[in-house]
Amino acid sequence: MIRLMFFGDIVGEPGRSTIIENLASIKEEFKIDFFVANGENAAGGKGITPKIAIDLLRCGIAVITTGDHVWDQKDLAQWISTEPRVLRPINYPAGTPGAGSIVLETAKGKVGVLNAQCRTFMKQLLENPFDRLRQEIEILRTETNVLLVDVHGETTSEKAALAWHLDGKVSAVIGTHTHVQTADERILPNGTAFLTDVGMCGADISILGREPAVVLQKFLTSMPTQLHIARGDVRICAAILDIDELTGRALSIQRFQRLYKVS
Ligand SMILES: [Fe+2]
Ligand SMILES: [Fe+2]
Repeated sequence: MIRLMFFGDIVGEPGRSTIIENLASIKEEFKIDFFVANGENAAGGKGITPKIAIDLLRCGIAVITTGDHVWDQKDLAQWISTEPRVLRPINYPAGTPGAGSIVLETAKGKVGVLNAQCRTFMKQLLENPFDRLRQEIEILRTETNVLLVDVHGETTSEKAALAWHLDGKVSAVIGTHTHVQTADERILPNGTAFLTDVGMCGADISILGREPAVVLQKFLTSMPTQLHIARGDVRICAAILDIDELTGRALSIQRFQRLYKVS
């Protein structure tokens, strides 16, 4: 059995500092073998910088996934091809910098991670994630059956459809992007664990990690506003997955939420 932990979208300094400070104790407490985190909002809510990605990788995150905010920090497109552990959605056109999947060696065998972006109500219209994921999974399954997929999307239905499309072909399909954890974790009939959205790692008193007052202002005025990162206590949202490392079947999926006091 291999135990994976997946953290939802890390929002700004509050989210990333809390993960960096607490990862060793979480690893010890839950006996985690492999950590994955979505880092698309790690730099002030907008994308991720190479430095922040390196800090997260150094503290023990094995793979960082992203989503629609992947290119918000201008340095990333140049750098991403040099660091295969930082993924961009796989369904960008051929020739886009970076990659949407990786297989890494661990003490318990190889683990593959894939990252795709949904298309419904998303600002970029990428290639069909259903087809693109299936093609890539065929290739990765020649190396390992332990495969985790981050499906980054707005609608619950598209993420659920992707999970059913991949049931039996991957160990887990975990949704990101909405920053709100859903309570529908389950194992599908052919052994794929699924959670519609894993939630976020960011300030608890916030709207999706941003200051409530400025988000509210945006809705009240329809004017452009600077969506500042909220401060204070941090809620970490994640999922913990036990996987049979030979077959790749999920044995269990458990939601994780913990509030960390910030003094
Ligand atoms: Fe996000
Ligand atoms: Fe997103």
